Amino acid sequence: MVHRILIVDDDPLICRQLEDLYRDRKYEVVTANTADEAMEHLEELECALAVVDLKIPGSDGISLTREIRERWPDLDVIIVTGYASIKGAVEAIRQGASDYITKPFEREEILLATEKVLEKRRLLDEISYLRSQLSDRYSFANMVSRNRVMHEIFETIQSLAQNDATVLISGESGTGKELVARAIHFQGRRKGGRFVAINCAAFPDSLLESELFGYERGAFTGATHDRVGKIELSSGGTLFLDEVESISLPMQLKLLRTLEQREIEKLGGNRVVTVNMRIITATNRNLEEMVGNGEMREDFFYRINVVPIKLPPLRDRVEDIPLLVSEMLRNNPMARERSISRLSNQALQELMSYSWPGNVRELGNVLERAILKTAGSVIREVDVQGVGPVVGTQRSGVGRPQDYDLPIKEYMRRAESAYLSAVLSRHSGGISASASHAMIDAATLHRKMKAHGLKREDFRERPSK
Ligand SMILES: Nc1ncnc2c1ncn2[C@@H]1O[C@H](COP(=O)(O)OP(=O)(O)O)[C@@H](O)[C@H]1O
Ligand SMILES: [Mg+2]
Repeated sequence: MVHRILIVDDDPLICRQLEDLYRDRKYEVVTANTADEAMEHLEELECALAVVDLKIPGSDGISLTREIRERWPDLDVIIVTGYASIKGAVEAIRQGASDYITKPFEREEILLATEKVLEKRRLLDEISYLRSQLSDRYSFANMVSRNRVMHEIFETIQSLAQNDATVLISGESGTGKELVARAIHFQGRRKGGRFVAINCAAFPDSLLESELFGYERGAFTGATHDRVGKIELSSGGTLFLDEVESISLPMQLKLLRTLEQREIEKLGGNRVVTVNMRIITATNRNLEEMVGNGEMREDFFYRINVVPIKLPPLRDRVEDIPLLVSEMLRNNPMARERSISRLSNQALQELMSYSWPGNVRELGNVLERAILKTAGSVIREVDVQGVGPVVGTQRSGVGRPQDYDLPIKEYMRRAESAYLSAVLSRHSGGISASASHAMIDAATLHRKMKAHGLKREDFRERPSK
């Protein structure tokens, strides 16, 4: 980038001297003999720096400095003084000049001062650029995105801050459902209360009931003390029911009563506890379909589906990948320690052409592995090659031209492996959900997974805190 420098001095000799000096160093130069002329130039040309004589006709360097800094806060000023008048120089700096130089000056002295100022400017520009990347436009409550649909979701979340409406968040695994749930809670007026999350798929029915409703001492063998359930714990705050599709039909009915009456009865107790919380649920299934199949109660579905938020999969917002990557690198301690702050263009290309069945979570995992592999400070293509949750065959067998060189048997094998990985990932390693998605039985799925070396643990979500 070429920097343009404005020289303001009534002495043509000095002007000429500075001009030659700067031109030698490949700076662009404009000169002015008066303050008015200087302002005219600045109105027309974008300059990076003004070198201003302290004594100029029609004004003085100090007032000119002040005026420049007021109108163009990004333009730096260096003051030149013929009298070694420290007092004037100090005043100029108070008015916003970056540095001062005394006449007669040494070439090196003035070049050094110039470079110092421009370097500082470059750093400031870089910082403000990075900041603007992550400013309100792209970031919201720990989420970053430059995608239109995501921005509409950010707006919805903001509008939910003012009320207690029940929210149903749907989206594939790893699209940020829990992050959205937290944002709704922490942006809202209930942020003083607890955010209580429970993964409904993690408990068999009987356990889920005591987790949610709690119990009193002696309610059953082994209940040696009272236990406060998650529902009661969330009172005053937010209850987040993750993987809500896995709640059994009888439990749906029990929960429905709680949601309607806002009260619970603990196991083994006869006391009724009033509760008051916002309900947020999340799912990676199509619940309307489940209602159609009789897998979900219609009344329960309507009760939880008041404000629906549908998160788009990452492959539908590839423009977010560079942004997510830089955010993840910024937050990764090892990347920070080793000053890894970016990806090569080819590496980014690689990431942007992949289909990300595991969405943002998978991107995070791939990046974590790449950070470990990377030798230098830039993540290279080889560091992210073979992206995918388990095996490197993921990316092949899904229609790249070179894949058609394979024998059909091998092509089909790879396609099946990629398909199964995607489905397992979408259902967080859930066998019955994945099997029904693929319309095969669980035993067949197990057999195929074994054949492809796929393990369900690799597709599981990390347990929610
Ligand atoms: N828009 C986003 N910006 C930054 N990080 C995100 C974003 N969406 C998701 N993540 C990250 O991706 C991971 C998965 O998000 P999570 O909310 O757990 O997904 P889900 O509940 O849909 O499976 C988390 O580490 C989360 O911080
Ligand atoms: Mg989740």
